[in-house]
Amino acid sequence: MITKLSVNINKIATLRNSRGHNNPNVVKTAMDCELFGADGITVHPRPDERHITYKDVYDLKKVLTSEFNIEGNPIEDKFVQLVLDNKPAQVTLVPDAMNQLTSNHGWDIIKNANLLSSFVCLFKKHNIRVSIFVDPIEEQIQAAKDIQTDRIELYTEQYAKDYLVDPAKAIAQYKSCALAADRLGIGINAGHDLDLHNLAFLKKEIPSLLEVSIGHALIADAIYLGLENTIQLYKRQLSTL
Ligand code: PXP
Repeated sequence: MITKLSVNINKIATLRNSRGHNNPNVVKTAMDCELFGADGITVHPRPDERHITYKDVYDLKKVLTSEFNIEGNPIEDKFVQLVLDNKPAQVTLVPDAMNQLTSNHGWDIIKNANLLSSFVCLFKKHNIRVSIFVDPIEEQIQAAKDIQTDRIELYTEQYAKDYLVDPAKAIAQYKSCALAADRLGIGINAGHDLDLHNLAFLKKEIPSLLEVSIGHALIADAIYLGLENTIQLYKRQLSTL
């Protein structure tokens, strides 16, 4: 099974915004990521537009040729409109609070079943694949099936932390959720704090992984290794050869 690498370019926008001009150019960087081997580009516009702006999303949509993944909380009408206007390959629903620094929990799908199910239905009607960001809890995987999402994105921050201490223990819960998702016919994505150390093991233990979206560590590595080399190194972690 091929696992796609979607590069999250939020950090490029953060760097650009720190000076108020257009350097680095977010659109050019995204196109270069594609050229260097990225299978997709992920953006996670926040309501305050502190990194990726809404305008960036429209600009990116015009030029990207790989899978475009837009992440965010659908309780924001503005976000829903942005997704419907741009029709990405995938929308990832994330339960962000307004001023959250970064995503720090998945959905409680059981509690939010009605809300999520209505958005799954809406986006699917527009031929947009839907992925739901979840913690690795097995009951949530069954709930994801009940609301008919195409995919889940496993929130991997805990895995990344625990991997440093005991990789086998770190992966255990993720593995059983992945097996449940496989059984139920739900596609599996993963993201948050994945890096060159913990990625290959994740892929080895969850061979049905369809996509990882990686931002922070990949962009940080690119400072030392260069963007093209870094993307190739991440892709190599995902290869099964
Ligand atoms: N997935 C989701 C839902 C996220 O919010 C983020 C961070 O924006 C990522 C993946 C990527 O995480 P990281 O930047 O740690 O690679």
